[in-house]
Amino acid sequence: MTDVPLPVARTVAELRTTVGEWRRQGFTVGLVPTMGALHEGHLTLVREAKRRADKVFASVFVNPTQFAAHEDLGTYPRREAEDAALLAQAGCDLLFAPSVEQMYPEGFAARVEIGGPSAGLETDFRPHFFGGVATVVTKLLNQARADVAVFGEKDYQQLMVVRRLARDLDIPTEIVGAPTERDGWGLALSSRNAYLSDDDLQIARRLNGVLAEAALKAAANEPPADVEAEASSALLAAGFERVDYVAVRSADLGPYEVGAPGRILAAAWLGQTRLIDNMAV
Ligand code: PAF
Repeated sequence: MTDVPLPVARTVAELRTTVGEWRRQGFTVGLVPTMGALHEGHLTLVREAKRRADKVFASVFVNPTQFAAHEDLGTYPRREAEDAALLAQAGCDLLFAPSVEQMYPEGFAARVEIGGPSAGLETDFRPHFFGGVATVVTKLLNQARADVAVFGEKDYQQLMVVRRLARDLDIPTEIVGAPTERDGWGLALSSRNAYLSDDDLQIARRLNGVLAEAALKAAANEPPADVEAEASSALLAAGFERVDYVAVRSADLGPYEVGAPGRILAAAWLGQTRLIDNMAV
């Protein structure tokens, strides 16, 4: 497709220079925020952004403020050269790869906290998470004022939080959700799948089937609490070591009502690896 290396901006000033030039030429701008270790799911987001905007930049930044001290910040996979090659092939126009010092300079003291969709689910188990995500996403949206930003539905609660953030803080960027990419067995693609042993991978591939079955039961009017308990048991029986939650909710993460659009969401552990997934009910 292309042999030309992808241009890289490492500072906000460099990013604004390139995006400003695009604007002067009359182009619309799309953003795909990522933490790198890119897979086909991320590339789908880039292609979606490219359908919606003339020029697209992807950020690759392993954001320390969304990791707790005991989490995998230090071991999170980092492979910028491979990421840049994949982004270029997917049609991305610029990689924004800032340092931690660039994003959080000495004396940085802001934190964006979003209520509403942040409550429960991930927050019950990772209370620091959405504050860190909201802070870095607010910065990314402000740094280059993209017309559109694309996020994966795999992190469904995150997508809801980002939508609320843009709405409540009057950030005019359109927030777009893109469907989850799955492997041939239905496992949602995730950078953390790389941590799984072959045996754990087989177990991980049962997650989406358990959720699909539970979604059918919820849609058939089985009480959400029963559906959630049965699905948790099924995950443990499949070999997951611990289930943080299985939750049946409305599509906007309120209480589920039969007949209205719903979502089933889950987080479960295999060894040191925490997997999340969700699907429509
Ligand atoms: O989904 C992710 O990869 C991250 O949470 C995001 C949105 C890039 C913020 O760091």
